[in-house]
Amino acid sequence: MGKYLILETIAREMRIGVLVLDSDGSALYANPSFLEFFPVRGGVEGKHVSDLMTNAHLLNAVSGFLQKRRGSPESMEIGEGPVVYSARLVPIKEKADFSLILFLQDITEEKRVETIKRDFVANVSHELRTPLASIKGYSETLLDGGMDDGETLREFLRVIDRHATRMSRLIDDLLTLSRLESHQMTIVSAPVDIGELVLSMIPAFEKQARDKSITVSTSIPQGLPKALGDHDRLEQVLVNLLDNAIKYTPSGGSVAVIAASDGQSVRVEVKDTGIGIPAADIPRIFERFYRVDKARSRELGGTGLGLAIVKHIIQGHNGRLNVESAPGAGSSFSFSLKACK
Ligand SMILES: Nc1ncnc2c1ncn2[C@@H]1O[C@H](COP(=O)(O)OP(=O)(O)O)[C@@H](O)[C@H]1O
Ligand SMILES: [Mg+2]
Repeated sequence: MGKYLILETIAREMRIGVLVLDSDGSALYANPSFLEFFPVRGGVEGKHVSDLMTNAHLLNAVSGFLQKRRGSPESMEIGEGPVVYSARLVPIKEKADFSLILFLQDITEEKRVETIKRDFVANVSHELRTPLASIKGYSETLLDGGMDDGETLREFLRVIDRHATRMSRLIDDLLTLSRLESHQMTIVSAPVDIGELVLSMIPAFEKQARDKSITVSTSIPQGLPKALGDHDRLEQVLVNLLDNAIKYTPSGGSVAVIAASDGQSVRVEVKDTGIGIPAADIPRIFERFYRVDKARSRELGGTGLGLAIVKHIIQGHNGRLNVESAPGAGSSFSFSLKACK
């Protein structure tokens, strides 16, 4: 088989963009991937590199090579519009001929994931540091003599206990999210009696609701078909939604859990008469650690991860999740699952 045919096939099929420049910086050849990255009408042949690409760092490096007509290969990361490339410039010299080959790999997605990971680690550290600083501050004060006063001792221990509880809740939520994401926590699909599940959960919220004089009601129609899903994960979804509904509803309000079915799917709605969510925040509340009001959420013992877990679980069910809310007008969170036939 001809060497040329093999090389040409490689250049045509690879996902890396290749651009070959002559000693003036004009294009001799571009492979299909390069043209996909930088569509050029009428082909690239004869066009100068600066007509094709805009990144100043790259163009500088190219002119450096062309002026010296030598050098060792150079790698760099460049941005071209919204796309980030890993670029490698390789000079070739053969007798009097000089050319430069540019290899481009689209690394936008890798960069995006990297940023998310970095932000996440920064967020987790920050979230852990806050309660830890309080625990440390209060225990130091007690050790410095504060514990001689029985009243202070009791009060400070209560604060320490509250912060320790928050830290352990945060770690539980982080572990849940990470298990869901790494698919260690698989979502099983079995018939779930949503009505029974909802009714079994209400007693656990009675105290929290009574303390704020919030009434919690349920509406489950007769003959509601079973939903297809994972009982324990759906319980977690309902815990998180009910906890939010009660937390973000002022005293005297009400929370309702309403189930319904059209025969094809089962829909569960958790509705409250609470503070509501501004329209601008709604698209973001499912992000990890996003809260409309950070101080209020912390005060109420929140981790900022509850809705991220809800979203993950419902997505894992191929279900639909919906939010309707407005400041002062209450919120409605609902999800739909496949009904069992
Ligand atoms: N029922 C609700 N009413 C008003 N705001 C809500 C409600 N549910 C969630 N939110 C908003 O969404 C944010 C994220 O919710 P979540 O992920 O459960 O975190 P957390 O409750 O720990 O703060 C909350 O901080 C709050 O601002
Ligand atoms: Mg929550």
